Amino acid sequence: MTSLEGKVIIITGASSGIGQGIAVHVAPYKPKLVLAARNITGLQATSLQCEKLGLVAKNILTVQCDVSKDDNLENLVDTTIKTFGSIYGLVNNAGYSTKANIEETDMKDYDGIMRVNLRAPFYLSKLCIPHLKNSKGCVVNMSSMVSKKGVPDIATYCLSKAALDHFTHLLAAEIGPSGVRVNSVSPGHISTEIFKKTGFSDEELTKKEAMIQEITPLRRLGQPEDVAKLVKFLLSDEASYITGETILVDGGTINPVFS
Ligand SMILES: NC(=O)c1ccc[n+]([C@@H]2O[C@H](COP(=O)([O-])OP(=O)(O)OC[C@H]3O[C@@H](n4cnc5c(N)ncnc54)[C@H](O)[C@@H]3O)[C@@H](O)[C@H]2O)c1
Repeated sequence: MTSLEGKVIIITGASSGIGQGIAVHVAPYKPKLVLAARNITGLQATSLQCEKLGLVAKNILTVQCDVSKDDNLENLVDTTIKTFGSIYGLVNNAGYSTKANIEETDMKDYDGIMRVNLRAPFYLSKLCIPHLKNSKGCVVNMSSMVSKKGVPDIATYCLSKAALDHFTHLLAAEIGPSGVRVNSVSPGHISTEIFKKTGFSDEELTKKEAMIQEITPLRRLGQPEDVAKLVKFLLSDEASYITGETILVDGGTINPVFS
């Protein structure tokens, strides 16, 4: 697949987990990658992995960026344009959760999660729209299977991802006429650090993972690469007539035929 060669792709949350997996997976296709996250050490590790896969250093830009801050998002777009002159792909991947049902939720956490998981993709996409129209590019939003089937103990996270799916539909309708595609990817349970960061104990996590494996037809947890393959497809010309979709990559976990 050569359609990503020379295309400028921004990936938020690229310092770990799925975001890092996406960068590493697309690197051999020779795009120009803009890796954004708060953690510079993690970004440098991602960048090194991409270089080992043949992407030359001058085609990798790392930008320290807290997506909850508007000026950081504005700087991300400005720096990308100053460095590479265009934007073809935007992967809104950064996200997090805390462990709380509705009754337990601290409203500061509610605001924080909504800001990172929903407001940041909204504002960053808005800033990129003129550039995406110029390049006839695409947006991929990192949603979750819990946008479709909620889990009570991560209530705010579920709401943020459900709203992100609707944002995908609205943005696809708005900028489709300019030739820009917008899709959501909805992973199931993928092996990353997100669950520990969310506040699940080792014991809770072991139980949760065993349960997921049991109900998942493919009988395993997902890996970042499983998600990255779908993101690469959606960024490429192979997906030229696909827009406004929210696509599960969950090993069948929430397929109503099985669960
Ligand atoms: N792992 C899963 O099972 C799973 C399932 C469904 C959806 N997702 C989604 O995938 C995305 C990536 O998660 P992951 O599993 O790789 O976890 P992760 O914790 O490894 O990655 C999340 C990334 O987002 C970044 N991030 C969080 N807040 C940020 C902020 N304010 N500014 C900049 N970056 C910020 C983190 O630093 C990190 O790089 C998230 O949107 C998550 O909701 C993950």
